[in-house]
Order: sequence, then C-alpha cells, then structure tokens
Amino acid sequence: MARLEGKVALVTGAASGIGAATAARFAAEGASIAGLDVAKPADAIWDEVDGSAPDAMFHEADVRDEDAVKAAVGAALERFGRIDALVNAAGVVGFGSAHVLEVEEFDRVVDINLKGSFLVSKHVIPTMLEQGSGSIIHLASVEGLVGISGQLAYNASKGGVVLMTKNMALDYSPAGIRVNCICPGGVETPMTDMLKLEALRPIGEKLRSAHLLGRFAKPSEIAAAALFLASDDASFVTGSSLVVDGGYTAGHRMSLD
Ligand SMILES: NC(=O)c1ccc[n+]([C@@H]2O[C@H](COP(=O)([O-])OP(=O)(O)OC[C@H]3O[C@@H](n4cnc5c(N)ncnc54)[C@H](O)[C@@H]3O)[C@@H](O)[C@H]2O)c1
Repeated sequence: MARLEGKVALVTGAASGIGAATAARFAAEGASIAGLDVAKPADAIWDEVDGSAPDAMFHEADVRDEDAVKAAVGAALERFGRIDALVNAAGVVGFGSAHVLEVEEFDRVVDINLKGSFLVSKHVIPTMLEQGSGSIIHLASVEGLVGISGQLAYNASKGGVVLMTKNMALDYSPAGIRVNCICPGGVETPMTDMLKLEALRPIGEKLRSAHLLGRFAKPSEIAAAALFLASDDASFVTGSSLVVDGGYTAGHRMSLD
C-alpha cells in the first residue's frame, strides 16, 4: 500500500530541488499535493506531481508575506479539507561574514528560511489542532548544526530552524502533531548549481569531499527522509533533527592516507 494513501501534503519550495522532489515522491505515495512557491514550477516538474497525485494544486506565494501564506493555506483547505503533512522546503542560501554582510541580505535569508517556515506553520497548525494530528517537517541543514565560513545569515537561519523544530514539538505533541526537521548535507539542486561555475569548482570539490560518501545527495534522497517523517513509520519521532548528510558531520578523517 502507498505510504501516504489518503493524506494531504502542503509543500513549500515545490517549484524546485528538494521541495519538487518531495512533492513528486509524496504524490507517488498517494498524497494529494498543495504546492507553494514564489516561482512557478517548470511544466516537467509539475506534470510529474500532477500525473501521480490523486489531486494537486499549485499556489504562487512568498513565504515572507503572511497574507499570501494565509490565502495559500486557505486555498489548500478549500480544495482538500485537511492538511496531514507540511514540508517547509522554501529557502535561499546567502553569503557574507559578519563585518561585511548587509543588513538587507541578513534579513532576506533569515526572513525566508526562518520566518517563512514559522509563518506557514502558524497558518497550518490550527487545522492540525482541529484534526488532532499532523506532521510538520522543516528543511534545516547541516549548517544549522555546525558552522561554515562566510555564511553568517544562512548558519543563523538554519540554527534557528533546528531550535524552532524543538519548540514546536514541545508545544504541539500533546495535540498529536509531530514536528521534525531534516539536516541535509550538500544536495544537487539549483541552490548548489553555482558550484559548477569554473571559478567555484575547487570549492565544490572540497565540499563534496567533506562528505564521507564523497558526493552530494540527490534531491530524491532528501525526499525519502521527508517521506519517512510524514508517514506513520515515524509515529514515535518528534523534535528530532534528522541528519541526512553522507557523513558530513560525522567528524574528520585523521589517518595518514
Ligand atoms: N541544496 C542543498 O545543498 C541544501 C542543503 C541543506 C539544506 N537545504 C535546504 O533545503 C531547502 C530547499 O533547497 P533546494 O536545494 O531545494 O533549493 P532550490 O533553490 O532548488 O529550491 C528552493 C525553492 O524555494 C523557493 N523560494 C525561495 N524563496 C521563496 C519565498 N520567499 N517564498 C516561497 N518560495 C521561495 C524557490 O523559488 C525555489 O523553488 C532550503 O531550505 C535549503 O536551505 C538545501
């Protein structure tokens, strides 16, 4: 039996990368999908979701805009009547150390990655409270667990997501809502495409080799973790930060070879 048969999932960042892969995997597992993104998905991406989901809709919205988020959640509820899983995958990367980082750039990254995940959760949770069930999955990052040079705002936003996850798990576990986050290592998505640029290739190679498995993840490998957390297989999992990082945070190899 499909693992999300009869369920409804709201997926942000559904137009690209991990969000798109998650929407497609959840659809293939029997879930109806409400996709949300500030950008329209390419036809090929949405056709895959639409083709396998029992029902699917896409709503254009910026996760920083509370009115737009409210409208998107409202539209999903009007269509499906419930939301069983929320995946907060909308996000951006940002660069800059503290002394050079413009305040506007700090705000942009933190507002999308942290405040955006809060806002969508805020408007989905009342429905989950009424249902007495739900699974919220935030996309954090290994960069919410360990630092990386030159990415102050990204580190701060993802660290915030990890702790926001624990906070929500505390507040909503009595109501039957599980809240977890995923901490991926590098993933081959448009977010990391810049590492293909000639000038940035050496950084890409260094980053890939910092993963014990010697590569970045495919988006489907992160979607598989999201599927676990959304499914009844994770019925005893809440407040956790599921690390899916090919060994990036396991430690450092110190052998002579
Ligand atoms: N790719 C990686 O290496 C990696 C690693 C760890 C964590 N993550 C996290 O996973 C999540 C998904 O990243 P991805 O790699 O799929 O990136 P991506 O760039 O492929 O997709 C991100 C999506 O978020 C959308 N988005 C951006 N700003 C938005 C906004 N204000 N409102 C609504 N949608 C918005 C974009 O339009 C895009 O479709 C992000 O939170 C990212 O930080 C990615």
